[in-house]
Amino acid sequence: MLIKFPFLAIIKEQGGNIMSDLKTNYMGLELKNPFVIGSSGLTSNLDDLKKCEDNNASAVVLKSLFQEQFIKKSQEIEGYLNYSHYEEVYDYIRNTTDNFGQQNYLKLIENAKKKLDIPVIASINCTSTKGWLKYAEHIEEAGADGLELNISFLPTDVEIDSNFVESKYIEILKKVKNKIDLPIALKIGPYFTAFKNFADKLSVRGADALVLFNRFYQFDIDIENLSLKAGNHLSSSDDLSTSLRWIALLSAEIENDFAATTGVHHGPDAVKQLLAGAKVVQLCSTIYKNGFEQINSIKNFLESWMDRHGYKSINQFRGLLNQSESEYPQEYERMQYIEALTKEKNIK
Ligand SMILES: Cc1cc2nc3c(=O)[nH]c(=O)nc-3n(C[C@H](O)[C@H](O)[C@H](O)COP(=O)(O)O)c2cc1C
Repeated sequence: MLIKFPFLAIIKEQGGNIMSDLKTNYMGLELKNPFVIGSSGLTSNLDDLKKCEDNNASAVVLKSLFQEQFIKKSQEIEGYLNYSHYEEVYDYIRNTTDNFGQQNYLKLIENAKKKLDIPVIASINCTSTKGWLKYAEHIEEAGADGLELNISFLPTDVEIDSNFVESKYIEILKKVKNKIDLPIALKIGPYFTAFKNFADKLSVRGADALVLFNRFYQFDIDIENLSLKAGNHLSSSDDLSTSLRWIALLSAEIENDFAATTGVHHGPDAVKQLLAGAKVVQLCSTIYKNGFEQINSIKNFLESWMDRHGYKSINQFRGLLNQSESEYPQEYERMQYIEALTKEKNIK
């Protein structure tokens, strides 16, 4: 399998040991490795951003500004956000002192660019471009290296069909592309009817990267208090499978880059996503659980795995297990546990 991939430069450590080349190009940015810290509270202040860099993250995606923060009438926001679903947004808005956070956010970008050497990607959480499109220009002027758009739109109206939903995403992408020159990543969920077709549309219309998949607010019900409650807000490695499958299905055919998010907790999770074809993995819950040092443990695992398998650079094995490389492409499309179900039947 190795001979399929070009041999790339071997980099020597100061001590003379052979070191893996982890360099990665993601949405046009040259990154020193594939470990990006995902948008969250971990990327909302300079001290933590510095910890990301000091522990070998190759880029950071800043905590999102929410489209709701651009709605000026505070009463409207108070009314709109007075639900537990929006608690995090509500807290964030309440705690910001200026114009619902826009100025502070630009300052954070400027200061992060001064203090860090790694790329800084801004993030906006939105369902349309209403209220914030002009602001994208300010993000660019402030020096951000890219913009990640977290588009989360839950179509619950019986009149809304899949074409309408997809067109909303495409319209946002088109408008933002027309406004700024920064590379754009779209962070989206998995709930689309024909995902390959949709991913291709986003790629053709200029998405530089797709971040798969957003982990949404976990909806749950409290059966004792007969009320709604939040599910676990941190993921585990068990949540890896959906993005792993789709990155393996898409990465060879769809032009843009892929970032894997949700469920990357340990070294093996990261290796799997690279084998599936991801350019980078985004880390979030694992840092909340294990601290910033976890970036180094995952990096160390990747290096030792590459060493064991004789790979000197990520390009030698990235996408090796995507669907188009496989002798058994149908295995990537298996949806049912046929064998397990049959065995179960026999046992009975
Ligand atoms: C506390 C917390 C805050 C988050 N805030 C944001 C956010 O502002 N914008 C965003 O796009 N994603 C946000 N996320 C989602 C993460 O970026 C990530 O996509 C998700 O947690 C799945 O990745 P993981 O399994 O590595 O945690 C947040 C996640 C957590 C746990």
